[in-house]
Amino acid sequence: VSESLAGLSIQAPLVVSLPRTLAFGVGVFERFLDQLASGAASRIFILTAPPTLRHAEAVASRAGTAGKRVEIWSDIVAEPSVRTFAAAADSASKLAPDLVIGLGGGSVLDVAKLVAALWQSPSEIDASFGIGKLAGRTTRLACIPTTAGTGSEVSPNAILLDERENLKKGVISPHLMPDESWCDPALTLTVPASVTAAVGMDALVHCIEAYANRFSHPMIDAWAIEGVRLIASSLKQAVLKGDDLDARSRVMLGALYGGMCLGPVNTGAVHALAYPLGSEFKIAHGVSNSVLLTQVLAFNLPAATRKYADIAVAMGVERGASDAQTAERGLAHLKRLSKEVGIPQSLAEVNIPRDALHRMASAAMTVTRLLDRNPRTVTLEDAIRIYQQAYSC
Ligand SMILES: NC(=O)c1ccc[n+]([C@@H]2O[C@H](COP(=O)([O-])OP(=O)(O)OC[C@H]3O[C@@H](n4cnc5c(N)ncnc54)[C@H](O)[C@@H]3O)[C@@H](O)[C@H]2O)c1
Ligand SMILES: [Fe+2]
Repeated sequence: VSESLAGLSIQAPLVVSLPRTLAFGVGVFERFLDQLASGAASRIFILTAPPTLRHAEAVASRAGTAGKRVEIWSDIVAEPSVRTFAAAADSASKLAPDLVIGLGGGSVLDVAKLVAALWQSPSEIDASFGIGKLAGRTTRLACIPTTAGTGSEVSPNAILLDERENLKKGVISPHLMPDESWCDPALTLTVPASVTAAVGMDALVHCIEAYANRFSHPMIDAWAIEGVRLIASSLKQAVLKGDDLDARSRVMLGALYGGMCLGPVNTGAVHALAYPLGSEFKIAHGVSNSVLLTQVLAFNLPAATRKYADIAVAMGVERGASDAQTAERGLAHLKRLSKEVGIPQSLAEVNIPRDALHRMASAAMTVTRLLDRNPRTVTLEDAIRIYQQAYSC
């Protein structure tokens, strides 16, 4: 491996966008309700999913009492596709909202972000995939996450499955940054253990892939490494004892930091190789990432040794005789963590047929916007080998 990971220097220009209002903490959902009632919005479109419907109804009830028109759309049952987006946008266009609220996991938030930007012209979705393709957004957007995972509430990204090509595609645009994000850990108390584990691992991967990234930057490193520390120290407790609000809060703050890394730095090969598991086999995003994590990191290790050693130490691993040994211990720690929180460990365990690996590798190679950021160059042959290693590890 001839490359080594330098990242950007402290002098490199960096532009960070965040919501104008970013609230975090137990009880901020109530504050959101208070300010909504007295706010200027008059037609409010709320997107949510069945498990979080009662919170959306609380929003609707408070806004309705204040004389506002409100519609709730709750038809998001899995990770969203272009068709899901089109149905939501169609429903929104009947209300012509001046405020869109996404209240749910990353699946809901991503659709809400796109609906806010495109409800007047939903057919533009196809031309919007990629970086910086959205013309703008005139409808206000508020996001209220109910999982501690994607960080979509602070990222300029939205991911949809394009069923026509069976590919997960991203819209990346500053116009997708919400105006307001309200992160209340109490809303995550009802997330089932298996979902807590998967979305928490996704958040951990955001932090790891941003910290050890060709475009890593000292300012973002601070969020990323703190996110690693928070999630690694508390995810197991949040999974095993779901009513521990302190553990839930720590994981949610870690996930928020992970999300804050996505705009300025973004992720790498773990995410790129994970996408085909979601698009073709409908494996949940967090599980897809987690099942590939240690194999991709082992591949990257020679190009990111020091950064991976830092990550290991942030996870509480004792330093070894060298960075390489510390980094190896970190990989073992990650493997143990994903086992302890009950996540499948191999591609075989999530029922991927062995003959799909070549096809998945070709699909992953199209995700150049992330592969370009990975600390080590990934070729098609490398991708196939990584999938093979993850097959029955
Ligand atoms: N925009 C971004 O920056 C970004 C980053 C990473 C991932 N993503 C995308 O986000 C999606 C995944 O989002 P996710 O991991 O949050 O999962 P999710 O939104 O699909 O939620 C997982 C499950 O948990 C349920 N749920 C959500 N909140 C709950 C609560 N409080 N109580 C009980 N159940 C609850 C959901 O209804 C769903 O069934 C994927 O499509 C992925 O590609 C986006
Ligand atoms: Fe992710």
